[in-house]
Amino acid sequence: MKNDEHSNSRERDAGFHSSPVVSSQLDVHEALEETVRKHVRTKWQHNVRSETRAAVVPLLQEAQDGGRPLLLDVGCGTGLSSVHLAEHRNMQVLAVDQSAARLNKAPAHDLVRFIRADAADVWCLAAELQFAFEHVFLLYPNPWPKPGHLKRRWHGHPALPLLLQCAPATTLRTNWEVYAREWHRALELCDRDPELREIHPKTPFLTRFEEKYARSGHTLFEVVSDSSS
Ligand SMILES: C[S@@+](CC[C@H](N)C(=O)[O-])C[C@H]1O[C@@H](n2cnc3c(N)ncnc32)[C@H](O)[C@@H]1O
Repeated sequence: MKNDEHSNSRERDAGFHSSPVVSSQLDVHEALEETVRKHVRTKWQHNVRSETRAAVVPLLQEAQDGGRPLLLDVGCGTGLSSVHLAEHRNMQVLAVDQSAARLNKAPAHDLVRFIRADAADVWCLAAELQFAFEHVFLLYPNPWPKPGHLKRRWHGHPALPLLLQCAPATTLRTNWEVYAREWHRALELCDRDPELREIHPKTPFLTRFEEKYARSGHTLFEVVSDSSS
């Protein structure tokens, strides 16, 4: 076996190999614009879980009162990005994921607070407190590739206006170009000025999924928007 074949099969064995996103949807969803505009017009009626409120409100209030910047890592998975962002920027990070199994694998870190929650609950609470994160990272969200799944993607979710209310600056990364283009368009519809580009990350990768996708040869995309300056 040649060396590269050997390392490819090793990566597959280690769970690194991943197929690109397959979807019958090849372009920006035709209902995207109408969906985003409707969510911007209407206030989302939603009850935040009490345990999330109890965990998140004191944290946001503490950062607010102390005037300390806080980063938000949405769908942080096993927390590689949360730790990297905290150390790289020397800032506190609120790292949120709904999966206990993934959070159980996250490392303890002084600057990172891992919380199991629905990210939309956290955006609701931040909007309620008029709290703004320094930067919100949405790294490799689940693509929900079926056309009928538009409302499960972050830009099709009714909580999008609340997210943008607490996030003057955002970074989204994905291995599905359609997702990146939809997110870009949704931000434009919300009066942001986002930039979409192809990225070629190398080791050390920012997240576990980034590593898996990059090593599997996928094209990766990043959309950055910063309305804070
Ligand atoms: C594809 S994984 C990416 C994980 C990590 N960001 C990475 O790149 O390695 C998507 C993550 O989003 C989490 N997630 C999905 N929906 C969520 C929600 N509504 N609230 C919080 N986390 C969510 C999943 O549990 C999963 O860990």
